[in-house]
Amino acid sequence: MPRILTGITPSGTLHIGNYFGAMRPAIELQAGGDAYYFIADYHSMTAITNAQERRGYTQGIALDWLACGLDPAKAVFWRQSDVPEVCELTWLIGSLTPMGLLERAHSFKDKTAKGIAPNFGLFAYPVLMAADILLYDTNIVPVGKDQKQHLEMTRDIAIKFNQTYGDTFVVPEERISETLAAVPGLDGQKMSKSYGNTIEIFGDEKVLRKKIMGIVMDSRTPAEPKPDAEKNLAIQLLRLVAPKDVATDFENRLRAGGLGYGDLKKALFEHYWNYFAPYRVKRAELVANSDYVEKVLKDGAERAQAVASKTMARALQHCGLR
Ligand code: TYM
Repeated sequence: MPRILTGITPSGTLHIGNYFGAMRPAIELQAGGDAYYFIADYHSMTAITNAQERRGYTQGIALDWLACGLDPAKAVFWRQSDVPEVCELTWLIGSLTPMGLLERAHSFKDKTAKGIAPNFGLFAYPVLMAADILLYDTNIVPVGKDQKQHLEMTRDIAIKFNQTYGDTFVVPEERISETLAAVPGLDGQKMSKSYGNTIEIFGDEKVLRKKIMGIVMDSRTPAEPKPDAEKNLAIQLLRLVAPKDVATDFENRLRAGGLGYGDLKKALFEHYWNYFAPYRVKRAELVANSDYVEKVLKDGAERAQAVASKTMARALQHCGLR
C-alpha cells in the first residue's frame, strides 16, 4: 500500500484553495493508502511570530481537517512538532543540500522580493519540508501546484543522500491534480493566506457574502455575449463548488449574454455556502469536543513517531553517527 503524506502550515485561516488543492485530494486518498497528514507548525515559524496566534491557527487547522472528513481511523494525523526528529533529519539532509538548489527556490525568491527579511528558516524551509516527506518513507504527496518545486527538491535531496550514504530514503512522487492545482483568489491571482484574497472554508456568512459579491468584473453589460465566459473568475470558482451541469449552464448563459454578474456572484455564494454546510455542522460538534481533537493528535503523534524513529535510526547508521 503506498504511503501518502501531506501537510498544511498554520500561518492563517484555511481557504478553499487549501481545500480543493490539498485537503480534498488527501481525504479521497485516505481510503486507498496508508495516509499520514500533519499540521506543519514548525513551518509556521517563518511566517508568524505570535505564540497565541500559532496555537490558535494550529487548533483551527486540526478542527478544519477533521470537519472536512479526515478520518483518524484511516489516517495518522499529528502536529509536526510532536515528532522533533524531523529537525534532526533536517540537519542530516541539509548538510548535503547545495546552496544553489535553495537559492533557486521560487518561494524564497518570491518572499524576499515582497520585502520579507530573509533568514535561515526561510532559506532552509524546503529542507525541513524534504525531511517531513523522507522521515515517513512517503510514496505520494498530494499538494497544490505551488509546492511542485519543493517536491522536486525533495527528490534531488533523497537521491543525493542515497548515492552518498547508501539506500536510505524512499524517493517520493508528487500528486498534483491539473484542474485543482491553482485555485484563483478573489483578485484572480493564486488564492493565498498571505495575499488577502481568500475565500475561507469556514467563514462568517455575512463577511463571505460581501467578499464574493465584491469580486471585481469588467464593465460589459449583462446583455452582451461573453465569448470568454470560461475565463470568468466566478465561473472558475463555481466549477469547484457547484454540480458540473449547473456550472456549465451558468457558463453557457454568460457566453450567450443575458446573465448579469450580480446574479452569477449570488449563485456562486449560494453554492459555496451549501457545499461546506455539512462540514460546518461537523466542525461545530468538534469545537464542543476539544478533548477528542487533542486525543486524535496525541495518538497520531505516537504512530508517526514509531515510523520516524525507524527511518532516523537507519539514516544515523548509514551516515556513521551510530
Ligand atoms: P500551505 O500551508 O501553504 O498550503 C497547504 C496546501 O494547500 C495547497 N494550496 C493550494 N492549492 C491550490 N490552489 C491554491 N490557491 C492553493 N493554495 C495552497 C498547497 O499547495 C499545499 O498543498 N510547505 C507546505 C506545507 C508542508 C508540506 C510538507 C506539504 C510542510 N511540509 C510536506 C506536503 C509535504 C505549505 O506551506 O503549504
